[in-house]
This record gives sequence, structure tokens and C-alpha cells, in this order.
Amino acid sequence: MKTNDPIPSRIATSGVLAVLVIDRVEDAVPVAEALLAGGVDAMELTLRTEAALPSLAAISAEVPEMMVGIGTIIDPSQVNQVVDAGGSFGVAPGTNPEVIRAAEQAGLPFAPGIMTPSDIERALQFGCEILKFFPAGSSGGLKHLKNISAPYAHLGLKYIPLGGVSLDNMSDYLTADMVAAVGGSWLAPRDLIASGDWPEITARAKAARALADQCR
Ligand code: 3PG
Repeated sequence: MKTNDPIPSRIATSGVLAVLVIDRVEDAVPVAEALLAGGVDAMELTLRTEAALPSLAAISAEVPEMMVGIGTIIDPSQVNQVVDAGGSFGVAPGTNPEVIRAAEQAGLPFAPGIMTPSDIERALQFGCEILKFFPAGSSGGLKHLKNISAPYAHLGLKYIPLGGVSLDNMSDYLTADMVAAVGGSWLAPRDLIASGDWPEITARAKAARALADQCR
């Protein structure tokens, strides 16, 4: 993604991205509405279930205030499916050049995943300016991100730490200038979606929204 494109700018303004593994299409609209009610208006549906793409289409059609994208894009052939289903953006765990190129050709704002300087340089070769820092927690957290990003700080790259981020540590990340937004599955975990606990999802979104607003 480019830092000055409208969708990444909106994600950065929001500061919080809900990451979901969704099993049933009928849960898509209620979970999007629950997040929105708590002030979280950006979500990523991971391409790890059959329900992800139809859920994207349902949310795009019925919850237009939600910015909804797709994560876990690991094959270039998935990019057009994401665009056809109305995806606003794409995210991947890694820096697969074929996927990055396909997203560029399709005009899909795309954040590849990075964890090392070599990953950052590969993403830079393709002009990516907003990168998913993954897995943020187990690779060393903010300290690791600061170390690997330091050589590229003058280029204005921005990062979205994902993987092991929670309400307890999200503020640490958000206080760093190079962090565009944080996110994770704790906002709407699979078990809460399965049990239809929309009030708890709204409560988690509200708590994250409040912390993000304090940090911005
Ligand atoms: C992922 O790709 O699984 C996400 O980054 C979410 O990670 P989390 O479940 O640790 O929040």
C-alpha cells in the first residue's frame, strides 16, 4: 500500500484493524456491525476459510461504512477474487513478489508481510510503503521493528504490527511514529463469532478504540 492512498490513510486514521477468521457467511454482517458499533471501522478477513470471500461481498454490500479487506493472500490468483468481491485492500503474511505484482496490476492497495530487512527491501523494490509487521510479538515486538526499520526510516515507510498484538500491548506500538495501525484477532476471535457474542465484540472494539484515540 502507498501511504497517501485513501484506504491506507483511513486505516492509519482509524489506527485499529480487526483480523478475523470467519466460518459462516451469516456471521459476516453482524460481526462487522458489532465492530462498527464499538468504533472499529477497518477489518481484514483472512483467506483461511471458504466463508471469507462471500463474507467480504456481504459486508461490502450491507455495511458500506466498514473498510473491509482480505488477508492471507498467498497466491496471485486470489487477488482478482478479492477485487471482484469488493475488497478495499489486501494483506499477506509474506513478501511474495507474484502476489505483490498481481495486486499492483489489479489496483488493490496491498500490504505485504515483513519480518527482516531483506523482506523490507523486497517490498521496497515493488514500491510498497505500508507493510504488515508479522508476527509482531514472537519476532521481538516493537524493539525488533525499531531495529529492522531504522535503516529505512528516511523513506517514510509505515508498518501495521499484527500477530500477538492485544489490548495490553497495542499502545506501545501505536506510540511509535512508523506504526500506521495495529490489529489482531483479539477484537473478534473465532469463538466469540461462533457464539454470536456481538456485545462482547463491541466492548472489545470500544476498548481498543479508546486506547487508540489516547495514543493519537
Ligand atoms: C494473523 O495473520 O493471524 C493475524 O496477524 C492475527 O494474529 P493474532 O491472532 O495473533 O492477532
